[in-house]
Amino acid sequence: MKIVVIGGTGLIGSKTVAILREGGHEVVAASPKSGVNTVTGEGLAEAMAGAQAVIDLTNSPSFEDKAVLEFFETSGRNLLRAEAAAGVRHHVALSIVAIDRTDNGYFRAKVAQEKLITASGIPYTIIRATQFLEFLGGIANSSADANIVRLPPVLFQPIAADDIAPIVAEVALAAPRNGIIEIAGPERAPFNEIIARYLKAVGDPREVVSDPKARYWGGRVEEHSLVPLGEARLGRIDLDDWLRRSRAGA
Ligand SMILES: NC(=O)c1ccc[n+]([C@@H]2O[C@H](COP(=O)([O-])OP(=O)(O)OC[C@H]3O[C@@H](n4cnc5c(N)ncnc54)[C@H](OP(=O)(O)O)[C@@H]3O)[C@@H](O)[C@H]2O)c1
Repeated sequence: MKIVVIGGTGLIGSKTVAILREGGHEVVAASPKSGVNTVTGEGLAEAMAGAQAVIDLTNSPSFEDKAVLEFFETSGRNLLRAEAAAGVRHHVALSIVAIDRTDNGYFRAKVAQEKLITASGIPYTIIRATQFLEFLGGIANSSADANIVRLPPVLFQPIAADDIAPIVAEVALAAPRNGIIEIAGPERAPFNEIIARYLKAVGDPREVVSDPKARYWGGRVEEHSLVPLGEARLGRIDLDDWLRRSRAGA
C-alpha cells in the first residue's frame, strides 16, 4: 500500500514512517526538505500519485495565533485538494484532545484543520491525542516567569510519541472511520504535579506553583479541560517509563 506521510520528518512523522516501512509499505516521507510543501503546494501532486492513504503530521513553524491558523488552513486546503485530485481513499490527521472545549489560538487552528477535513468529502480518521510527553519542557517554558512555573491543578494525561506512532500507523492501514478517536497516556494526574515531577527528574530547578487561575497557552482550563471525557485508547508509557527510556537514549 502506498502511504504519504506529510510531516514525515517530524517527531511523530519519522516514527510513523519507520513503522510503516517495517511493515513493507511504500511510504513517502514528505516535508519541505524533500520538496513537498503543503503551504505553497510544491511537490504535492507528484507525492500523491498512486497513494491510497495520506497521514497529515505537519506542524506550524510558528505558534503565534494568526500564523498557526494561517498555516493549518492553507496547508489543509492544499493537501485535501491534492488528495481529491489523486483519488486518495483515506486521510488521517493527528489532532488534540479537547480543542473544541478549551480556547487558545493553537487549538482554534486545529479546529479549523479538522473542519476542512470533515467538509472535504474524503474518507477520514482524526486521531485526537493528549499532550506529548516530549512537549512537557515546552509547556514548562511557556508557563514560566523567571524561576516560577505557574500551572492550574487540572487533570493532565500526557502520551509518549512512541505510543502515538504505532496507533497512527494502525489507523492509516484500517478502514476510514469518518470520525474521531481519542488517545491518551496511561497516567492521569494534576497538571502541576506532572510538570513538577518532570522538572525535578531533568534537574530543572524551577519551582512549580499550583494556581487555579493560571492559563494554558492563554486559555482558561478547568478540571477536565485537557483530558478525554469519553472512551479513549491508552498508551503504555507513563512519565517514569518515559524518563527512563529518554535517559537510556531509547
Ligand atoms: N505537541 C503536542 O503535545 C501535540 C498533541 C497532540 C497533537 N499534536 C499534533 O501532532 C502533529 C505533529 O506534531 P510533531 O510534534 O510531530 O511535529 P514536528 O516534530 O514539529 O514536525 C512537523 C513536521 O511538519 C513538517 N512541515 C512543516 N511545514 C511544512 C509544510 N509547509 N509542508 C509540509 N510539511 C511541513 C516539518 O517538516 P521539516 O522537517 O522539513 O521542517 C516536520 O516534518 C501536529 O499537527 C500537532 O498539532 C501535538
